[in-house]
Amino acid sequence: MGIKAAQGYLPIKSIRACLKQAGISVQDIDLIVHPGASYPSTLDSVARYLEHQFHYAPLAETVNHQMAHLASAYYCSQFDEAMCLSYDGYGDQLSGALAIADSSGIRILETMEGINSLGLFYSMITSYLGFAVERDECKVMGLAAYGGDGVDLSEVLAPCDGGYRFDKGYLPDDYKRRNMFEPFYTDKLVNLLGPSRKPGAEITQYHKDVAYAAQKRLEDCAIALVTHLHRRTGLRKLCIAGGVGLNCVVNYRLSTLDFIDDIFVQPASSDRGIALGCALYGSNQNSQAINNLAHVFQGPTYSRSEILDAIELASVAYREIEDPATVAAAMLSEGKILAWYQGRSEFGPRALGHRSILADPRSAKTKDEVNSRIKFREEFRPFAPSVLAAHVSAVFDTRSLSPYMTIAFPVKDHWRDRLGAVVHVDGSSRIQTVQQQTTPLYHRLISEFYQRTGVPAVLNTSFNVRGQPIVETPLQALATFASTGLDALFMEKYLLEK
Ligand SMILES: [Fe+2]
Repeated sequence: MGIKAAQGYLPIKSIRACLKQAGISVQDIDLIVHPGASYPSTLDSVARYLEHQFHYAPLAETVNHQMAHLASAYYCSQFDEAMCLSYDGYGDQLSGALAIADSSGIRILETMEGINSLGLFYSMITSYLGFAVERDECKVMGLAAYGGDGVDLSEVLAPCDGGYRFDKGYLPDDYKRRNMFEPFYTDKLVNLLGPSRKPGAEITQYHKDVAYAAQKRLEDCAIALVTHLHRRTGLRKLCIAGGVGLNCVVNYRLSTLDFIDDIFVQPASSDRGIALGCALYGSNQNSQAINNLAHVFQGPTYSRSEILDAIELASVAYREIEDPATVAAAMLSEGKILAWYQGRSEFGPRALGHRSILADPRSAKTKDEVNSRIKFREEFRPFAPSVLAAHVSAVFDTRSLSPYMTIAFPVKDHWRDRLGAVVHVDGSSRIQTVQQQTTPLYHRLISEFYQRTGVPAVLNTSFNVRGQPIVETPLQALATFASTGLDALFMEKYLLEK
């Protein structure tokens, strides 16, 4: 199995896989763009590494980390002209940037210095609540929906004209060096909030209220930033990237601002999307045409014979079926929990119907089943639905498509009871809208499920267990199938059942 969000490793296997997929060698590369513009040794390190691996180092240049985030958002969006927001923990001495972008490129208007960071603020609260820094921020977001008023963080972080004010005295001095379970806050925060939660300890209402207060602070500050950016630029389309862009509740609040016409959130907003941003930035510098992102199914695919080889190696029973979408829809409507492994894998953190675990979204009990039999996640974390694009505004409070699960929309009142497994406690859902043209087989599966049940959605969660990356190869799929309580695995046209 791989290493989830591997940090500190040089991605040589990924580099070789990309070269193989593109059918080129390292000598065919015109330019390598690498983040780390503020570190003088970056280019030397890159060149030495490539020389060591390939005996050849193409021309390389650096770009600022925040510019790479901005490029990953703007060039993937379908906008001609847009305001762009990058915000994260920190990168290249900065924690964010405000920019304007059009066909001539991206121009940074303002930057946020490293420690003055909305991402670090949220990581600090993540640590205070006993979770892992730079990994479990999404848990704080999930927990916030259970909280209410009662905790005041206005001394720590507050929106202001032009952005926000963050009191850095709450963060340790060595904020750049840490392991994920070391306390990432100072005594000043403990004096304000009381003792922190120890990892694994009971989660009390107070902890939920702290998460709620932090989430509200983050939302209000993001709104202040975007309002400021809009006033400076007069633009009404917004691109977002950086780790804070993964906060789908903030994204929803931003999408509802009356001066926002359209919003694009880079699906791999965190540093997983940095390489893409670097490549797009370099392509634009080299005057190469850039197509916006049509879908995220950019990963490897495996032939039928490779899949069959893996199944035979694992010595498990299987059968070939003519129409997996119909068979899977029928099984889902009977309450079965399935793994759905089809075509090229997804780029980014979400499984979007090619490496997914699927279940019937109608009953809240399904959520517990998926958790206890397969995912082993905390019970407060919500699951998300994939919904037929044509039905999105009938079920959710939006008229926009949201193909990458980047925004949590309110579920319409009369649908909440019908989607018990995928509606969060605050009545929202982080939806994936599914269109026929981008993922036809998955679209047909959900359409078949709709024909049978009258519900145009399925529960979709990534095909992995807690702590592991999403499965990539057929053998990884088989291993995860064998080690969990999944009822069935569909791999292309092959069906394995327990
Ligand atoms: Fe970043």
